[in-house]
Amino acid sequence: LASIEQDVAAIQPGQAIKTVFRKQPLFIRHLTPKEIAEADAVPVDSLRDPQSLADRTKEGKQQWLITMGVCTHLGCVPLGAAEGENRGEFGGYFCPCHGSHYDTAARIRKGPAPKNLEVPEYEFTSDTLVRIG
Ligand code: FES
Repeated sequence: LASIEQDVAAIQPGQAIKTVFRKQPLFIRHLTPKEIAEADAVPVDSLRDPQSLADRTKEGKQQWLITMGVCTHLGCVPLGAAEGENRGEFGGYFCPCHGSHYDTAARIRKGPAPKNLEVPEYEFTSDTLVRIG
């Protein structure tokens, strides 16, 4: 299966982009320190799909949240990866199809989705280049 390479240098803190990976939407988000703190403040045991932000990001690169843009309920594309879009009650992503709210680590917090947004295989090949897949 094909990998893609993405330069993330232009994505400012607080911004996200939506791209395409293996014909599906992929979100790359540059978390602010506040968004990281919000994700870290949540007790992992209290989560429906218990994962820490550290589980979902790379060491030393916790500000880069890379997930599929596919709601784990029935596969709609959540909002929140573009300027001004509704990020839901937990400041991450919001799926308008049936109201799933994801937090700043793209973990499911409210609504029918059973799982966090999926984190694909990826690695940083330089400070700002990411190979996904
Ligand atoms: Fe996202 Fe149902 S597909 S909430």
